[in-house]
Amino acid sequence: MPITELADARASVGTLLSSATHKLGNAPGARQDVETLLAHVLEVRRTALYLAPERPLDENTSATFEQLLDAYIDGVPIAYLTGWADFWSLRLEITSAVLVPRPDTEILVASALDLIPSQTDTTVIDLGTGSGAVAAALAQERPQAFVLASDRSAAACALAQRNFKRLELPNANAIRADWMRAIAVGCGELITANPPYIGLDERPSLDSGLRHEPQDALFSGRDGLQDLRIIISAAASRLRKDGWLLVEHGYEQGRAVRELFRCHGYARIETLRDLNQHERVTRGCWPK
Ligand SMILES: C[S@@+](CC[C@H](N)C(=O)[O-])C[C@H]1O[C@@H](n2cnc3c(N)ncnc32)[C@H](O)[C@@H]1O
Repeated sequence: MPITELADARASVGTLLSSATHKLGNAPGARQDVETLLAHVLEVRRTALYLAPERPLDENTSATFEQLLDAYIDGVPIAYLTGWADFWSLRLEITSAVLVPRPDTEILVASALDLIPSQTDTTVIDLGTGSGAVAAALAQERPQAFVLASDRSAAACALAQRNFKRLELPNANAIRADWMRAIAVGCGELITANPPYIGLDERPSLDSGLRHEPQDALFSGRDGLQDLRIIISAAASRLRKDGWLLVEHGYEQGRAVRELFRCHGYARIETLRDLNQHERVTRGCWPK
């Protein structure tokens, strides 16, 4: 049943929010997401909804909201519906051509910042940049650094470039490349990558919400390690002496990833845990 019928013939902000939250079964976070969607449709801040709960809504507004709510119930990420997502301290434009940046990826940023001095010119390369989330956060926190972001997807590169421009980050630039192919030998002090790392074997058991995100951004061979193998092997020649490679990976891949770093000759290998205490980011230093 359409929520406008559930609510009231003349829906108001308050009645629409209550009926939509009810439609979602009062799931955790439902109220917040419903408010985000309605604020998006009304082009106001979420707080404005509280200031005017009696505000009447016309049929067009209710119908647009209902369409977005149905898509949300079907599992479309809220960032694709509103066109933005928050990451680190930044608000990024997001389209369905890129993965929605995840809070766990902020560990990759924090761990990279640990290794990038604030007062020196450093060249950082962010592989598989997607929306440019990691690159933008690093460029913002380290204005002295130059951040080269790359992705195989032309749509992702164009979006990352738009985000850099809108966030006024002249020290970040996006190029289209298949992993390390366009990156010169020995040019970077630090490489970050959040590559696809889900195994095709895991596909049947996955959260159906993932089906709306680009499959190229998620899956990497049967065991999920295909792209990590390429990156860990090829990054070595792109790093200067004592440069660092940092990769995000699946929470059960820590041991295999550390082994790959070891086999390729990296030193000072260490794995960091995410907010749920899962192994999430492994880093290693190139000693040669
Ligand atoms: C898991 S997403 C990460 C996106 C972004 N870094 C983030 O953390 O939100 C992986 C990204 O790798 C890109 N990618 C996949 N295969 C690639 C390849 N062979 N070369 C370069 N980029 C690739 C995808 O297009 C996607 O944007």
